[in-house]
Amino acid sequence: MTGPSRYPFTSTPDGWYHVAASGEIEPGQVLSLHFFGRDLVAYRTEAGEAVVLDAHCPHLGAHLGHGGQVVGESIRCPFHAWRFGADGRCVEVPYQQRGRLPEVGLKCWPVHECAGLVLVWHSDDGHAPDWRMPEIPEYTADDWQGYLTHSWTVRMHVQELCENVPDTAHFEVIHGLPEPPGADAEVEGPLYRQFTTLPNPDGSRWVVARQECWGLGLVWLRTDVEPLTTFLTATTPIDDETCLLKQFVLIRDPEPGANGELGAAARAGVEMVFAQTEFDVPIWENKIYRQKPPLVEDDGPLPILRRWAQQFYPEHR
Ligand code: FES
Ligand SMILES: [Fe+2]
Repeated sequence: MTGPSRYPFTSTPDGWYHVAASGEIEPGQVLSLHFFGRDLVAYRTEAGEAVVLDAHCPHLGAHLGHGGQVVGESIRCPFHAWRFGADGRCVEVPYQQRGRLPEVGLKCWPVHECAGLVLVWHSDDGHAPDWRMPEIPEYTADDWQGYLTHSWTVRMHVQELCENVPDTAHFEVIHGLPEPPGADAEVEGPLYRQFTTLPNPDGSRWVVARQECWGLGLVWLRTDVEPLTTFLTATTPIDDETCLLKQFVLIRDPEPGANGELGAAARAGVEMVFAQTEFDVPIWENKIYRQKPPLVEDDGPLPILRRWAQQFYPEHR
Protein backbone atom coordinates (compact mmCIF):
# COMPACT_ATOMS: atom_id res chain seq x y z
CA MET A 1 0.00 0.00 0.00
CA THR A 2 1.27 3.50 -0.78
CA GLY A 3 0.38 6.37 1.53
CA PRO A 4 -2.15 6.34 4.35
CA SER A 5 -5.34 4.33 4.03
CA ARG A 6 -8.45 6.21 2.89
CA TYR A 7 -10.37 4.63 5.76
CA PRO A 8 -9.85 4.79 9.52
CA PHE A 9 -10.40 1.04 9.91
CA THR A 10 -9.28 -2.30 8.55
CA SER A 11 -9.97 -3.04 4.89
CA THR A 12 -11.51 -6.39 5.83
CA PRO A 13 -13.99 -6.34 8.69
CA ASP A 14 -15.14 -9.67 10.11
CA GLY A 15 -17.67 -11.45 7.97
CA TRP A 16 -18.57 -13.78 5.16
CA TYR A 17 -17.44 -12.77 1.71
CA HIS A 18 -18.30 -14.15 -1.71
CA VAL A 19 -15.23 -15.64 -3.44
CA ALA A 20 -16.81 -17.71 -6.23
CA ALA A 21 -20.09 -18.97 -7.56
CA SER A 22 -20.66 -22.66 -6.71
CA GLY A 23 -20.73 -23.51 -10.43
CA GLU A 24 -17.21 -22.14 -10.89
CA ILE A 25 -15.79 -24.99 -8.82
CA GLU A 26 -16.94 -28.39 -10.09
CA PRO A 27 -15.87 -31.57 -8.24
CA GLY A 28 -12.19 -32.15 -8.90
CA GLN A 29 -11.66 -28.57 -10.10
CA VAL A 30 -9.03 -26.20 -8.73
CA LEU A 31 -9.33 -22.40 -8.87
CA SER A 32 -6.78 -19.66 -8.11
CA LEU A 33 -8.16 -16.71 -6.17
CA HIS A 34 -6.78 -13.46 -4.87
CA PHE A 35 -8.69 -11.79 -2.05
CA PHE A 36 -7.86 -10.11 1.28
CA GLY A 37 -4.39 -9.30 -0.12
CA ARG A 38 -3.60 -13.03 -0.25
CA ASP A 39 -3.20 -15.75 -2.83
CA LEU A 40 -5.77 -18.47 -2.25
CA VAL A 41 -6.67 -21.75 -3.86
CA ALA A 42 -10.18 -23.15 -3.98
CA TYR A 43 -11.11 -26.68 -4.94
CA ARG A 44 -14.04 -29.04 -4.71
CA THR A 45 -13.38 -32.46 -3.26
CA GLU A 46 -14.64 -35.55 -5.05
CA ALA A 47 -17.33 -35.81 -2.35
CA GLY A 48 -18.46 -32.29 -3.27
CA GLU A 49 -17.14 -30.08 -0.48
CA ALA A 50 -15.81 -26.65 -1.44
CA VAL A 51 -12.45 -25.94 0.20
CA VAL A 52 -10.47 -22.68 0.32
CA LEU A 53 -6.83 -22.70 1.44
CA ASP A 54 -3.85 -20.36 1.30
CA ALA A 55 -2.26 -20.97 -2.07
CA HIS A 56 1.44 -21.44 -1.36
CA CYS A 57 2.76 -24.80 -0.33
CA PRO A 58 4.57 -24.86 3.03
CA HIS A 59 7.25 -27.12 1.52
CA LEU A 60 9.00 -25.03 -1.14
CA GLY A 61 6.32 -22.51 -1.95
CA ALA A 62 4.59 -23.71 -5.13
CA HIS A 63 1.16 -22.22 -5.86
CA LEU A 64 -1.42 -24.99 -5.61
CA GLY A 65 -3.77 -23.14 -7.96
CA HIS A 66 -1.31 -23.62 -10.82
CA GLY A 67 -1.20 -27.33 -11.53
CA GLY A 68 -2.49 -28.61 -8.19
CA GLN A 69 -4.77 -31.65 -8.48
CA VAL A 70 -7.66 -32.92 -6.42
CA VAL A 71 -7.14 -36.42 -5.08
CA GLY A 72 -10.23 -37.64 -3.24
CA GLU A 73 -10.76 -35.08 -0.48
CA SER A 74 -7.23 -33.69 -0.72
CA ILE A 75 -5.22 -31.48 -3.05
CA ARG A 76 -1.81 -32.44 -4.42
CA CYS A 77 0.92 -29.86 -4.87
CA PRO A 78 2.22 -29.62 -8.46
CA PHE A 79 5.88 -29.36 -7.36
CA HIS A 80 6.76 -32.43 -5.21
CA ALA A 81 3.27 -33.98 -4.85
CA TRP A 82 2.76 -33.39 -1.15
CA ARG A 83 -0.93 -33.75 -0.39
CA PHE A 84 -3.07 -31.60 1.91
CA GLY A 85 -6.45 -32.56 3.35
CA ALA A 86 -9.61 -30.44 3.27
CA ASP A 87 -8.52 -28.98 6.62
CA GLY A 88 -5.22 -27.85 5.02
CA ARG A 89 -3.00 -30.29 6.94
CA CYS A 90 -0.30 -32.25 5.16
CA VAL A 91 -1.50 -35.86 4.78
CA GLU A 92 1.18 -37.33 2.55
CA VAL A 93 4.75 -36.82 1.35
CA PRO A 94 4.78 -39.56 -1.29
CA TYR A 95 8.54 -40.08 -1.51
CA GLN A 96 9.15 -39.93 2.25
CA GLN A 97 10.68 -43.19 3.54
CA ARG A 98 12.01 -42.07 6.91
CA GLY A 99 10.87 -39.95 9.82
CA ARG A 100 7.47 -38.56 10.63
CA LEU A 101 5.12 -36.71 8.36
CA PRO A 102 5.87 -32.98 8.79
CA GLU A 103 3.27 -31.24 10.92
CA VAL A 104 2.62 -28.44 8.48
CA GLY A 105 -0.31 -27.24 6.49
CA LEU A 106 -2.01 -24.46 4.60
CA LYS A 107 -4.30 -22.00 6.35
CA CYS A 108 -7.84 -23.32 5.90
CA TRP A 109 -10.58 -20.74 5.47
CA PRO A 110 -14.08 -21.39 6.86
CA VAL A 111 -16.44 -21.94 3.90
CA HIS A 112 -20.22 -21.70 3.85
CA GLU A 113 -21.85 -22.63 0.59
CA CYS A 114 -25.31 -21.20 0.30
CA ALA A 115 -27.68 -20.20 -2.51
CA GLY A 116 -25.13 -21.16 -5.16
CA LEU A 117 -22.39 -19.03 -3.65
CA VAL A 118 -19.09 -19.99 -2.06
CA LEU A 119 -18.67 -17.72 0.96
CA VAL A 120 -15.48 -17.45 2.99
CA TRP A 121 -15.21 -16.15 6.54
CA HIS A 122 -12.53 -13.56 7.20
CA SER A 123 -11.48 -12.18 10.57
CA ASP A 124 -8.29 -10.18 11.09
CA ASP A 125 -7.86 -11.47 14.64
CA GLY A 126 -9.05 -15.04 14.11
CA HIS A 127 -12.58 -14.56 15.48
CA ALA A 128 -14.53 -17.75 14.57
CA PRO A 129 -17.74 -17.45 12.54
CA ASP A 130 -20.78 -17.15 14.81
CA TRP A 131 -23.48 -16.54 12.21
CA ARG A 132 -24.31 -17.48 8.63
CA MET A 133 -26.16 -16.03 5.69
CA PRO A 134 -29.59 -17.72 5.42
CA GLU A 135 -30.86 -19.67 2.41
CA ILE A 136 -32.47 -17.58 -0.31
CA PRO A 137 -35.86 -19.15 -1.24
CA GLU A 138 -35.99 -17.43 -4.64
CA TYR A 139 -32.77 -19.23 -5.66
CA THR A 140 -34.50 -22.61 -5.67
CA ALA A 141 -38.02 -21.45 -6.62
CA ASP A 142 -39.24 -22.84 -9.97
CA ASP A 143 -40.65 -19.58 -11.26
CA TRP A 144 -37.47 -17.56 -10.62
CA GLN A 145 -34.51 -17.32 -12.96
CA GLY A 146 -30.89 -16.45 -12.39
CA TYR A 147 -28.31 -15.68 -11.47
CA LEU A 148 -27.59 -12.96 -13.97
CA THR A 149 -24.35 -11.35 -12.97
CA HIS A 150 -22.18 -8.33 -13.52
CA SER A 151 -18.96 -7.38 -11.75
CA TRP A 152 -16.72 -4.40 -11.23
CA THR A 153 -13.32 -3.90 -9.62
CA VAL A 154 -13.73 -0.76 -7.57
CA ARG A 155 -11.37 1.33 -5.43
CA MET A 156 -13.57 1.36 -2.34
CA HIS A 157 -14.15 -0.11 1.09
CA VAL A 158 -16.82 -2.77 1.68
CA GLN A 159 -18.62 -0.51 4.15
CA GLU A 160 -19.35 2.03 1.39
CA LEU A 161 -21.72 -0.41 -0.27
CA CYS A 162 -23.67 -0.87 2.95
CA GLU A 163 -23.73 2.87 3.59
CA ASN A 164 -25.50 3.23 0.26
CA VAL A 165 -28.54 1.46 1.72
CA PRO A 166 -29.55 4.02 4.40
CA ASP A 167 -28.32 6.96 2.29
CA THR A 168 -31.82 7.93 1.18
CA ALA A 169 -30.92 11.33 -0.27
CA HIS A 170 -28.66 9.85 -2.95
CA PHE A 171 -31.50 7.73 -4.35
CA GLU A 172 -33.08 10.86 -5.80
CA VAL A 173 -29.84 12.44 -7.03
CA ILE A 174 -27.96 9.37 -8.32
CA HIS A 175 -30.69 6.82 -9.02
CA GLY A 176 -33.48 9.03 -10.29
CA LEU A 177 -36.19 8.31 -7.72
CA PRO A 178 -38.90 10.99 -7.81
CA GLU A 179 -38.03 11.94 -4.23
CA PRO A 180 -35.83 10.61 -1.44
CA PRO A 181 -37.48 7.45 -0.09
CA GLY A 182 -38.34 6.79 3.53
CA ALA A 183 -36.27 4.15 5.31
CA ASP A 184 -37.22 2.09 8.37
CA ALA A 185 -34.15 0.32 9.73
CA GLU A 186 -33.85 -2.47 12.26
CA VAL A 187 -30.87 -4.50 13.37
CA GLU A 188 -30.61 -8.05 14.65
CA GLY A 189 -27.07 -9.25 15.37
CA PRO A 190 -25.19 -9.44 12.06
CA LEU A 191 -28.29 -8.36 10.09
CA TYR A 192 -29.20 -4.78 9.17
CA ARG A 193 -32.67 -4.75 7.60
CA GLN A 194 -34.30 -1.80 5.93
CA PHE A 195 -37.73 -1.18 4.45
CA THR A 196 -37.43 1.52 1.82
CA THR A 197 -40.71 3.29 1.12
CA LEU A 198 -42.30 5.80 -1.23
CA PRO A 199 -45.59 7.64 -0.67
CA ASN A 200 -48.91 6.59 -2.24
CA PRO A 201 -51.19 9.35 -3.53
CA ASP A 202 -53.36 8.87 -0.39
CA GLY A 203 -50.39 9.60 1.86
CA SER A 204 -49.81 5.97 2.95
CA ARG A 205 -46.47 4.43 2.04
CA TRP A 206 -45.55 1.39 -0.04
CA VAL A 207 -42.41 -0.62 0.44
CA VAL A 208 -40.42 -0.42 -2.80
CA ALA A 209 -37.47 -2.42 -1.54
CA ARG A 210 -36.47 -4.59 1.39
CA GLN A 211 -32.73 -4.62 1.96
CA GLU A 212 -30.76 -7.01 4.15
CA CYS A 213 -27.08 -6.52 4.90
CA TRP A 214 -25.54 -9.72 6.26
CA GLY A 215 -22.31 -8.35 7.62
CA LEU A 216 -20.66 -5.79 5.39
CA GLY A 217 -19.92 -8.03 2.42
CA LEU A 218 -23.37 -9.32 1.46
CA VAL A 219 -26.21 -6.93 0.68
CA TRP A 220 -29.51 -8.39 -0.55
CA LEU A 221 -32.28 -6.31 -2.03
CA ARG A 222 -35.81 -7.47 -2.82
CA THR A 223 -37.98 -5.24 -4.96
CA ASP A 224 -41.74 -5.03 -4.72
CA VAL A 225 -42.06 -3.72 -8.26
CA GLU A 226 -42.80 -5.95 -11.27
CA PRO A 227 -40.86 -7.82 -12.51
CA LEU A 228 -39.89 -8.95 -9.00
CA THR A 229 -36.16 -9.09 -8.48
CA THR A 230 -34.02 -10.27 -5.60
CA PHE A 231 -30.37 -9.52 -5.92
CA LEU A 232 -27.16 -9.76 -4.01
CA THR A 233 -24.47 -7.13 -4.18
CA ALA A 234 -21.41 -8.92 -2.88
CA THR A 235 -18.33 -6.88 -2.04
CA THR A 236 -15.09 -8.70 -1.34
CA PRO A 237 -11.79 -6.94 -0.54
CA ILE A 238 -9.12 -7.81 -3.09
CA ASP A 239 -6.49 -5.84 -1.16
CA ASP A 240 -6.37 -2.76 1.06
CA GLU A 241 -7.52 -0.47 -1.75
CA THR A 242 -9.86 -2.37 -4.03
CA CYS A 243 -12.90 -4.60 -3.90
CA LEU A 244 -14.52 -7.00 -6.27
CA LEU A 245 -18.13 -5.89 -6.47
CA LYS A 246 -20.38 -8.50 -8.04
CA GLN A 247 -24.13 -8.57 -8.42
CA PHE A 248 -26.21 -11.73 -8.62
CA VAL A 249 -29.73 -11.10 -9.86
CA LEU A 250 -32.68 -13.47 -9.49
CA ILE A 251 -35.83 -12.48 -11.32
CA ARG A 252 -39.41 -13.72 -11.60
CA ASP A 253 -40.10 -13.26 -15.25
CA PRO A 254 -43.78 -12.47 -15.94
CA GLU A 255 -43.41 -13.26 -19.67
CA PRO A 256 -40.55 -15.68 -20.29
CA GLY A 257 -39.52 -16.33 -23.89
CA ALA A 258 -40.33 -19.61 -25.69
CA ASN A 259 -37.01 -21.27 -24.79
CA GLY A 260 -37.01 -20.06 -21.22
CA GLU A 261 -34.88 -17.03 -22.00
CA LEU A 262 -35.78 -13.76 -20.31
CA GLY A 263 -38.60 -11.69 -21.77
CA ALA A 264 -38.08 -8.05 -22.65
CA ALA A 265 -39.42 -6.65 -19.36
CA ALA A 266 -37.22 -8.95 -17.27
CA ARG A 267 -34.16 -8.18 -19.38
CA ALA A 268 -34.77 -4.49 -18.93
CA GLY A 269 -35.21 -5.02 -15.16
CA VAL A 270 -31.86 -6.76 -14.88
CA GLU A 271 -30.09 -4.16 -17.01
CA MET A 272 -31.59 -1.49 -14.75
CA VAL A 273 -30.01 -3.11 -11.66
CA PHE A 274 -26.56 -3.08 -13.25
CA ALA A 275 -26.96 0.43 -14.67
CA GLN A 276 -28.00 1.82 -11.29
CA THR A 277 -24.94 0.32 -9.61
CA GLU A 278 -22.77 1.78 -12.34
CA PHE A 279 -23.94 5.26 -11.30
CA ASP A 280 -22.52 4.75 -7.78
CA VAL A 281 -19.09 3.52 -8.91
CA PRO A 282 -17.39 6.88 -9.65
CA ILE A 283 -18.66 8.25 -6.32
CA TRP A 284 -17.19 5.30 -4.40
CA GLU A 285 -13.89 5.38 -6.28
CA ASN A 286 -13.22 9.02 -5.53
CA LYS A 287 -14.89 9.82 -2.23
CA ILE A 288 -13.24 9.96 1.18
CA TYR A 289 -14.71 8.69 4.43
CA ARG A 290 -16.16 11.31 6.77
CA GLN A 291 -16.05 10.00 10.30
CA LYS A 292 -18.31 12.68 11.74
CA PRO A 293 -20.48 13.85 8.85
CA PRO A 294 -22.78 16.84 9.46
CA LEU A 295 -25.96 14.86 8.78
CA VAL A 296 -29.33 16.53 8.56
CA GLU A 297 -32.46 14.85 9.89
CA ASP A 298 -33.52 13.66 6.42
CA ASP A 299 -30.21 11.97 5.63
CA GLY A 300 -31.69 8.56 6.46
CA PRO A 301 -30.67 5.99 9.07
CA LEU A 302 -26.92 6.08 8.37
CA PRO A 303 -26.09 6.44 12.11
CA ILE A 304 -27.98 3.18 12.80
CA LEU A 305 -25.97 1.39 10.12
CA ARG A 306 -22.66 2.78 11.34
CA ARG A 307 -23.38 1.74 14.93
CA TRP A 308 -24.38 -1.74 13.74
CA ALA A 309 -21.24 -1.99 11.57
CA GLN A 310 -18.92 -1.53 14.56
CA GLN A 311 -19.41 -5.16 15.65
CA PHE A 312 -17.42 -6.29 12.59
CA TYR A 313 -14.28 -4.38 13.57
CA PRO A 314 -11.93 -6.02 16.08
CA GLU A 315 -11.08 -2.64 17.65
CA HIS A 316 -14.69 -2.32 18.84
CA ARG A 317 -14.99 -5.74 20.44
S1 FES B 1 6.48 -27.09 -3.03
FE1 FES B 1 4.71 -28.21 -2.69
S2 FES B 1 5.38 -30.22 -2.47
FE2 FES B 1 7.20 -29.07 -2.68
FE1 LIG C 1 -26.53 3.87 -4.78
